[in-house]
Amino acid sequence: MALRLVAAFLLLCLATAASAQQAVSWKTGREAQGIERRIDALLRRMTLEEKVGQLHLSGRGEGFDVEQVRSGAMGAVMNFVVPAEILAVQKAVRESRLRIPLIIGLDAVHGFSTYFPLPLGQASSWNPELIEKAAYWTGREASAAGVNWTFAPMVDISRDPRWGRTLEGAGEDAYLGSVVAAARTRGYQRGGVATTAKHFVGYGAVEGGRDYNTAWIPTSQLFDLHLPPFKASFEAGAMTAMAAFNTLNGVPATAHRGMLTDLLRGKWGFRGFVTSDFGSITELRLHGIARDDAEAARKALLAGIDMDMMGDVYHNHLAAEVRAGRVPVKAVDEAVRRVLRVKFHLGLFDRPDVDPAAAPKLMQTEAAREVALQAAREGAILLKNADILPIREGVKSVAVIGAMAVPEDERVWTDPAGLGRRAITPLPDALRERLPKDVSVTFEPALTKNCGTEFADREAAIRAAAASDLVVAMLGEDCEFMGEAASRTKLGLPGVQQELLEALVATGKPVVLVLATGRPLVLGWASEHVSAILQTFHGGTEGRAAIADILTGRYNPSGRLPMSFPRSVGQIPVYYGGLPTGRPARPGERYSSVYMDERNEPLYPFGHGLSYSRFTYSSPRVSAASMPLNGAVDVSVDVGNSGPRDGQEVVQLYIRQPVAGRSRPLRELKSFSKVTLRNGETKTVRFRLAAAAMGAHDDRGAYVVEPGQFEIYLGGSSRAAVMVKVSLAKP
Ligand code: NOJ
Repeated sequence: MALRLVAAFLLLCLATAASAQQAVSWKTGREAQGIERRIDALLRRMTLEEKVGQLHLSGRGEGFDVEQVRSGAMGAVMNFVVPAEILAVQKAVRESRLRIPLIIGLDAVHGFSTYFPLPLGQASSWNPELIEKAAYWTGREASAAGVNWTFAPMVDISRDPRWGRTLEGAGEDAYLGSVVAAARTRGYQRGGVATTAKHFVGYGAVEGGRDYNTAWIPTSQLFDLHLPPFKASFEAGAMTAMAAFNTLNGVPATAHRGMLTDLLRGKWGFRGFVTSDFGSITELRLHGIARDDAEAARKALLAGIDMDMMGDVYHNHLAAEVRAGRVPVKAVDEAVRRVLRVKFHLGLFDRPDVDPAAAPKLMQTEAAREVALQAAREGAILLKNADILPIREGVKSVAVIGAMAVPEDERVWTDPAGLGRRAITPLPDALRERLPKDVSVTFEPALTKNCGTEFADREAAIRAAAASDLVVAMLGEDCEFMGEAASRTKLGLPGVQQELLEALVATGKPVVLVLATGRPLVLGWASEHVSAILQTFHGGTEGRAAIADILTGRYNPSGRLPMSFPRSVGQIPVYYGGLPTGRPARPGERYSSVYMDERNEPLYPFGHGLSYSRFTYSSPRVSAASMPLNGAVDVSVDVGNSGPRDGQEVVQLYIRQPVAGRSRPLRELKSFSKVTLRNGETKTVRFRLAAAAMGAHDDRGAYVVEPGQFEIYLGGSSRAAVMVKVSLAKP
């Protein structure tokens, strides 16, 4: 018996050791102190060139020089995804004098081998546990292939869908953005890769939504809106940060000492390293703050950029700058210390090299695909449903239209060749599997490619639609229309897709529009003419299976918008958390805050999303009518599912302080909870609301919680109507 117990205990220890080895996190106490001593010892042995090498990040592809790895002149690499190639660079570093392991970075943004919805789509699930799992599997697959650092999560808040990179973030709101940032950080690092909170800071606010453009952000807004998700990511353990491309209030983020050093390291105590963005140090010349690369290197390093991504600027100039006395060697040592610190805390000095034979077995496991399916289901938002979904019994033929329904070239960030990417189920097949045998499902691509720029066989698509009981059109944005460097001023369906949609509607058959986009589009016409709209932000490997689950009613949709959908581009920025004006909108009245030619509200507001069930809210209450500035109250509300199905509701809590020292937003999300309610069930949903979370920053960046009355709104979107009050009193 005793022996068996010992054996069980040993097994448990082994299992714990194995999982502990995989997850990465900041070490604490004696372990952290020991690491500092190892760094001191290593720094003493390093030449200036070897030090600069640790700050040099170069990438796979043309110009990559493995000799730099061997000579200790390169401490970080990126864009390697094939395990055998990673092993080759790891072997090269073992031939270097000090054998300091490489940190190996990759944009594993929403998957590595198994693909999850785009980050904006994950945020749409409003399910932090699920989002964390998606990041976990991404981290795990990437680390099994030898990657140990991801350039994610992007935590930039954006209220501008013209910006192509909205798809990489969590939308428009600081609170949701912070919850998602923390969940993703935890997940990736549990999966074995260090994270990068990016882009520090203000990138989501580039003027006009034009990529790489200038950002002007008032201090109060910087602290209330843009910085919280970074803080949340660091508090969740993010080990690195990436500086943004843009200027922030006139200073390029890559040379912003106030942000990188005074705030990040000084006030927030961040101990990890900061990398530049791709070539952003040399771009300091183009921003007009450096005459040449040497000056750019100097300014970036002294501002607080530790690593030069793909710029060769530190590699070419930093040692000479030190020798000329323009950069103190102490500043270089500090940067190297931060890089080595991350490498030690990551456990790189003790990790074995990647095993290319083992890697494929860890890709696209059943467990990962299950999470991908659930994330795609929960990340899809039903925007409109004129009583057409789920597909009714009387429907005997469905025409699926649109090349995107059959993903031949699914957009993926990385393509880990040789790791056995399995085919993605096409939407028509997924529907056939789920619909009764007597329902016929036909498919016509209509378009040559996912991007929808040109027709393949338009007439065949119209004929198929006309001959069916129900049309499912899968359209949207793909290819070059979304992501980095994909800013748009017109937010309609790209190419010929609007023409296609109108032709499909003209057949007189009910049309369900399934969208896969990277951002909110302007959907005015569609919202009036199609019978249903299901919005997805590219669901990934299991995306079409999830869509089929929703269309057929196997899954009751529960996604909610993380960004407002504008009616017109001219409304942008349109977001739920605006300030009141002195002339509140009175439609038709000239001297009130309205447009002459458009309504003020978005087409679909933040937090919106339909279900096949109807949810009711009643009896909002607080545990006390007032609380001190250091106190908290419990807020509860009864949420009912009045049927006809079981479903999930995202219960959202917003606050407003109607009278304060400065004007406060009309609504601010402060909490949410995704609850499952059976048909006919009512649950009491409780939130803890702390006074400390109800303040705002002033013009100097100081956080102030002001006494006074607050309104608390509870509901299923930012238009939540049920309200209860609480007052904050001076102690
Ligand atoms: C530029 C992007 O801005 C950044 O987010 C990304 O991580 C790097 N390229 C590396 O691919």
